[in-house]
Amino acid sequence: AKYCWVDKDTCISCGACGATAPDIYDYDDEGLAEVVFDGDANQGVTEIPEGLFDDLQDATDGCPTDSIKIADSPFRIAVEK
Ligand code: F3S
Repeated sequence: AKYCWVDKDTCISCGACGATAPDIYDYDDEGLAEVVFDGDANQGVTEIPEGLFDDLQDATDGCPTDSIKIADSPFRIAVEK
């Protein structure tokens, strides 16, 4: 399984991730990227399906500030969505 979130402290709103993987990333009011897949709200607790792994990897590789974090387990204690 793969989980993902964006570190907004280092995101520079370059826009590459949303262009590469629009199903996973969108932008908040300040233009900073966040994971929106299946209502994740950038918590890193929503399992990204295998069909999106290529997009996920491409976006991570393409982020100029390494702000996209990926792991095999959830990043946070699962919260009510
Ligand atoms: Fe930000 Fe990186 Fe996306 S800088 S907009 S997280 S590609």
